[in-house]
Amino acid sequence: MLSSKLAIVTGGGSGIGQEICKKLAASGANLIVADLKKSAAENTAKLLTGSAHTAFEIDVSKLNDVNRLKEFIQNWKTSPSVLVNCAGITKDSTLLKMSQEQWEDVMNVNLNSIFMMSQMVARESVKSKTPLSIVNVSSIVGKIGNFGQTNYAATKAGVIGFTKSAARELATKNVRVNAVLPGFIRTPMTEAMPPKVLESMVSMVPQRRLGEPEEIANAVLFLASDTSSYVTGTTLEVTGGLGM
Ligand SMILES: NC(=O)c1ccc[n+]([C@@H]2O[C@H](COP(=O)([O-])OP(=O)(O)OC[C@H]3O[C@@H](n4cnc5c(N)ncnc54)[C@H](O)[C@@H]3O)[C@@H](O)[C@H]2O)c1
Repeated sequence: MLSSKLAIVTGGGSGIGQEICKKLAASGANLIVADLKKSAAENTAKLLTGSAHTAFEIDVSKLNDVNRLKEFIQNWKTSPSVLVNCAGITKDSTLLKMSQEQWEDVMNVNLNSIFMMSQMVARESVKSKTPLSIVNVSSIVGKIGNFGQTNYAATKAGVIGFTKSAARELATKNVRVNAVLPGFIRTPMTEAMPPKVLESMVSMVPQRRLGEPEEIANAVLFLASDTSSYVTGTTLEVTGGLGM
């Protein structure tokens, strides 16, 4: 499906991002596994089918780092066909207690990075006339909100608005832009939650279970590949029915 196409996955060192890397590599893509943690990116790269994969250390919230990735891609001499913006963090607190730093950190990593990464890769695509699919990992929380996550939910809602606007602008330039909205998925991010909170979350899910990272990766593969060639500006909810 993605034979020899170059794909960048941010946050590829862990959880959902790692599973997306595996899925895209199994479909023939050559991966740039981009993550803040070099060892995590290297570990993912080693797990992938095929050999033309690279681990790239990057802080996606820093323009200098994004520019370093641009230079790296330009040296590669193949423009990416897929960009999956998956890197994300939480810094939870109720609104009344949230610090300015908690707000800004989450904005920088979850939303500002999507602007910088998407702009950089879309420019490369338009310049080289390489069709591109951008898949942004948002969250169902961006649609329905969540207690203690005003910062996180605002970024994930922002990702949806960004996705639809960019999709409109780039639709005639062979660039598709879509978003996946995961529900509660079994990853280090959710494993860090107190069991009681997790239990009460699962009880709200119509399918009464957490999702698996592979179930998100399947949706991302669909949006990343030509199987979804007439799909742009959409939000695909993968939530076991939560938030329908
Ligand atoms: N786990 C869930 O239930 C869930 C639900 C909805 C949405 N999501 C979203 O899915 C994405 C992945 O979540 P996950 O649960 O796999 O998390 P995770 O913590 O397992 O993985 C996140 C990865 O992003 C990397 N990262 C963090 N900050 C970075 C930065 N500044 N630059 C580059 N890399 C950075 C981390 O090193 C890590 O490898 C996130 O965007 C998250 O918001 C997760």
